[in-house]
Amino acid sequence: MSSKLKKSALRKSASQGLQLLGGISAAVFLRDFWQKKPLLIRNAITDFVGPLSMREILTLAGRDDAESRLITRRGNTWELQNGPFSRRALSQPDDVSWTVLVHDVQHFSFEAHDLLAKFDFMPRARIDDLMVSYAVRGAGVGPHFDSYDVFLLQGKGKRRWQISGQRDLRLRPDSPLKILSHFVPEDEYILETGDMLYLPPGIAHNGIAETACATWSIGFRAPSKQDLSVAFLDHVRDAIQLTGQYADAGLIVTTHPAQIDAAMQRRIAQMLREVQNASRDVAAVRRFTGCYLTEPKSHVVFDTPHSTLAKGAFSKLAKRFGVELELKTRMLYDDQEVFLNGAARIPTPDLRIALRELADKRSLAGSAIARLEPKLGLAYLYECYREGVLAVARH
Ligand code: SIN
Ligand code: CO
Repeated sequence: MSSKLKKSALRKSASQGLQLLGGISAAVFLRDFWQKKPLLIRNAITDFVGPLSMREILTLAGRDDAESRLITRRGNTWELQNGPFSRRALSQPDDVSWTVLVHDVQHFSFEAHDLLAKFDFMPRARIDDLMVSYAVRGAGVGPHFDSYDVFLLQGKGKRRWQISGQRDLRLRPDSPLKILSHFVPEDEYILETGDMLYLPPGIAHNGIAETACATWSIGFRAPSKQDLSVAFLDHVRDAIQLTGQYADAGLIVTTHPAQIDAAMQRRIAQMLREVQNASRDVAAVRRFTGCYLTEPKSHVVFDTPHSTLAKGAFSKLAKRFGVELELKTRMLYDDQEVFLNGAARIPTPDLRIALRELADKRSLAGSAIARLEPKLGLAYLYECYREGVLAVARH
């Protein structure tokens, strides 16, 4: 598709009603609801089955490369444990209501990526993860609020959601979980398979499983100023290369040897001026933004391919079947650079077009690979393949 046609197709889809959003367009959703008010969507996805079955969710909660939590409630007492969980840990006595949550399901399932792709009318950099909760009848994680936007998509079973725009967001001091001290529901809905509830940050909510059920949460990332600034300082520390040494020729005699005097403080402030300037350096902030947004979470490990193809064999297969990003790979780009799992790269023009397509679609067709310059383009894809960042597309 020419870029003109592509843009007009995008504009059309932005203005067309989407079933996923209850018949309103993405543009209207973003204008009227996003970060503003809740939206209940009946039948957002027809015949929704979810990327994993209930059994597969419980199996995933048992894997040590998945991040899972078990929340149990006996009467008014809540408990929180971190996974992995054996099947036995997940078969609790009848008087215990329990929920198991598994984060980053998209690291384990291509269907989970397909589900996240339904939200591609928003920048992918805003998406944090796809989380799933499995709850036995009557269970939930208690009334709470989140500091990020979330779409709660009902999988198998039914869940009652109570929501409130209450101002009182004080939390119970005695609980290992974030549970509101006083929750006063204002609205209540029972969500059935395929229904979805959008909640902006700060809306109090409480989900109670009406039957054993699975709920899929599309969660958005909203870093705090503190986290972002600490990450920026870390990035600057790694990127910075300064020259110069503390020097104080002309030092005068002191009678208070333990004193740090104003002249010493001035010299140090002068030396730190370049660090202060780092946040005003547009190119440095731009690079930081891309690296930060694609940095894998700390527990994520990339598996290198079991049996590595030689370069020639990889090229042949890649040209025939195309390539696709591995499940855990995060890839974004800006006007100048491409960012892959926390690292920046300035590509050559033909590679830039191909890498942008790979980032947008998470896959790249064989015909596009065949057009790449072998020394630079194909060699780069091969390097990514050896690092476990991408693979020959499933065929
Ligand atoms: C859940 O699915 O049980 C919790 C999701 C949420 O409240 O954000
Ligand atoms: Co929540």
